[in-house]
Amino acid sequence: MHHPVEPEFVGRTYDDFLFRPQLSIVASRQDVSLKTHLSRRLGLDLPVVASNMDSVTGAEMAKALALEGGIGFVHRGMAIAAQGDAVARVKRTYGHIVEQPLCLPRDATIREAREFTAKHHITGILIEETRVSGILVGLLSNRDLPWIEGLEDHRVEEFMTPVEKLVTGPPNISVEEAEQRMFAHRIEKLPLVDRHHHIRGLITKKDLILARQRPYSSKDGKGRLLVGAAIGARGDFLERAAEILRAGADVLLIDIAHGHSAVMRRAVEAVRAKFGEVELVCGNVGTAEGAAFLLDLGVDAIKVGIGPGRGCRTRLETAAGVPQLQAIREAWCAVGESVPIISDGGVRDDKDIFLALICGASSVMLGSMLSGTDEAPGFVIEDPGTGEKRKIYRGMTSPQAVFDALYSDESPDAAERALGVPAEGQEIQMPHKGSVADILHRMRGHLRSAVSYAGEETLAAVRAKTVLDPLRYLTPLSPAARDESYER
Ligand code: XMP
Repeated sequence: MHHPVEPEFVGRTYDDFLFRPQLSIVASRQDVSLKTHLSRRLGLDLPVVASNMDSVTGAEMAKALALEGGIGFVHRGMAIAAQGDAVARVKRTYGHIVEQPLCLPRDATIREAREFTAKHHITGILIEETRVSGILVGLLSNRDLPWIEGLEDHRVEEFMTPVEKLVTGPPNISVEEAEQRMFAHRIEKLPLVDRHHHIRGLITKKDLILARQRPYSSKDGKGRLLVGAAIGARGDFLERAAEILRAGADVLLIDIAHGHSAVMRRAVEAVRAKFGEVELVCGNVGTAEGAAFLLDLGVDAIKVGIGPGRGCRTRLETAAGVPQLQAIREAWCAVGESVPIISDGGVRDDKDIFLALICGASSVMLGSMLSGTDEAPGFVIEDPGTGEKRKIYRGMTSPQAVFDALYSDESPDAAERALGVPAEGQEIQMPHKGSVADILHRMRGHLRSAVSYAGEETLAAVRAKTVLDPLRYLTPLSPAARDESYER
């Protein structure tokens, strides 16, 4: 234990404090860096993490977060194969090189090709000699797919650009060389092949442009977007982990309601025994003891939050919980900078993110703030009376979420088992908010302003200065001061 939590934080959370403005040195807020750590080995450009909830994070949300410099954890309320697919989709969206491009054999039909492009969300297919031969014989792009009728049973080889007419590159081509070759020939896809026409990769214009436009997006060493996925701690969690890692996940999350538990210890030991040094985030805990417990287990980031979530009823139903700012501070006082803290739940305004960070969190996991967006799973429902558009946000232990998770695993007694789980989560209808990218831009802007008010040029500098003694920079609020601040 580093030191005990300051008494001023006990029983306190976000709305209890304001930050005391400092002499500003920022010339342009655009230049303010928000770089932080998600976990021991993964960095982020934006300290925002999308929650592993079935109404928040599937492949689309995870992609959007990584593109903006954050990261998303794909939820586990679905069958193992479906979660693996979601992870694989994020990993395949961008990259310097698509290492294992999707292929169809030359005798595949146009119908098959159409289904294939729709299923995998791709715009061009490499055509190989025979299935899994890996010998390049052509490229079928969206443009090549016939739009006149009656050709669905024809073979793709009739419409593809044959390999003799294709511009290709060697497997070890540099990014610069690839760019030049692609522009010189005005092509959008460059298949990489060895001397024997073996397919060794694919470079796309879309990926090259993205790498330039978004230097801040979260990527792995191969230029692919970062993505995490939740696995739970019981049942088939090790098979889930294996599949998710195979699909390319960069970080696993063991997420259980009470992470300071024997169940967690067994789960971490099992994951380490089977997968070694895989990047592993664990939670949730809400106390100094809980954080120290996870540190001792050797996790790579600690997720903190017991009961602050918008869709969460834990505190109401069990009285268990810790006010979120207290929980963050307790965790930081216990583990310091030895392992990053992810603050999870309870953020209702952008300023809460800043407060979480300066008190000890390295990133903040959001559920409701990102829900109701285009990228969140689920449908837009329109109220026939008012015309208002909404999307559902729900706690992961809400009865419907539990039922859906069991149902997706083909549990024959899904309904019965769902009813047997006491609900600690509830469902809320969120206004439809448009693209999550706009919300992330807004958060980035507000965090940069907050850094400016804090008298530094980077979030890291603010955090380094404040985290040792945040109370020097915080003003506790009276009820009147709180009204003056937040009542509008
Ligand atoms: P926000 O406030 O961002 O919180 O919407 C998201 C976090 O809430 C947690 N969560 C739950 N907690 N019962 C709970 O006790 C639930 O059913 C539940 N579902 C989500 C979770 O930590 C999430 O990231």
